[in-house]
Amino acid sequence: MNIPVTRTTNPKPRPEDETKLGFARYFTDHMFVMEYDEGKGWHSPRIEPHAPFLIEPASAVLHYAQMMFEGMKAYRKPDGSIQLFRPDMNIARMKRTCERMCMPEVPADLFLEGLKAVIYEDRDWIPSAPGTSLYIRPFLFGDEVSFSVLPAQHYRFMIILSPTGSYYAANDGGLTTTRIFVEDEYIRAAPGGTGYAKVGGNYGGGMRASKKAIAYQCKDVLWLDAMEHKYVEEIGTSNAFFRINDEVITAPLDSGTILPGITRNSVIQLLKKWGIKVSERKLSIDDIFAASKDGSLQEIFASGTAAVISPIGWLNYKGEDYTVADTKVGPIAQKLYDNLYGIQTGKVEDDMGWTYPLGF
Ligand code: COI
Repeated sequence: MNIPVTRTTNPKPRPEDETKLGFARYFTDHMFVMEYDEGKGWHSPRIEPHAPFLIEPASAVLHYAQMMFEGMKAYRKPDGSIQLFRPDMNIARMKRTCERMCMPEVPADLFLEGLKAVIYEDRDWIPSAPGTSLYIRPFLFGDEVSFSVLPAQHYRFMIILSPTGSYYAANDGGLTTTRIFVEDEYIRAAPGGTGYAKVGGNYGGGMRASKKAIAYQCKDVLWLDAMEHKYVEEIGTSNAFFRINDEVITAPLDSGTILPGITRNSVIQLLKKWGIKVSERKLSIDDIFAASKDGSLQEIFASGTAAVISPIGWLNYKGEDYTVADTKVGPIAQKLYDNLYGIQTGKVEDDMGWTYPLGF
């Protein structure tokens, strides 16, 4: 497929210090764009300079939020070449999200070609300092001019890129523990809703709780289930894992309220490979607090593309702090981080078949 490229005439300066990238604070010079019309399908794929674009104020997405996004990363290997991590999983999740949101599916080959083309264009932006990567944000939205509460007839799909550190990383790119706020008033997702899909509304609806979390000096929110406010679900940006009495527990996917994280799935597979007991089962917040008090709570960590593996040292609930073991980075979180980020960056051999070299 021919993807025309319009190169920027005004390239941006690269961030000077790769160890201070933060998360999605810088964007590269180009972006991938294509459009969809009912009856015509996807068309006009192209690479353009990354820049603000025009959107009609009456576009459906600005009013009814018919959109989805993905999060993935490209990594620079020690030999300088570039690879992705399990892009097939992002493609499969994107398909499920599009189905849920009544949006046209993005064909896998078109997605991968567009993705490769834009990464190739901006390959010199991919950082290599410890803890860094190129964060990839594909997104799709209905921009038909319409106030009907019906699926749009016209869509835009875009991919933008950001050289980035991990979401909660310490400055040296290593791991550090954070404090997380247990939200017992607002909810993220209910059965039958969009919790399993990667849509902006799941995050927009969560910001009231994120604001509370910040007021309590916490980095993020731990959501409880919508029906009883009793069972742990996931963290604002990521999935959550709890190690109690040598069993690693994460919320099951069957309620349809949990985002099926690609890192979540990778963590489960690595733990199984290492012979560590891992369970996808309901776990009550009361059991976690009891384990914190009796010393059987060994570790809590978040997993996600942005968060990678982010250990948690404290849970804050109704103004009270519950400590996680000695509040330091736990051994399983550290081992998972070293192996996962090692595989992703080509520093640890990929015996899981997860990496996807881009050929440049
Ligand atoms: C990701 O990890 O890619 C995400 O989409 C999380 C984001 C909300 C920070």
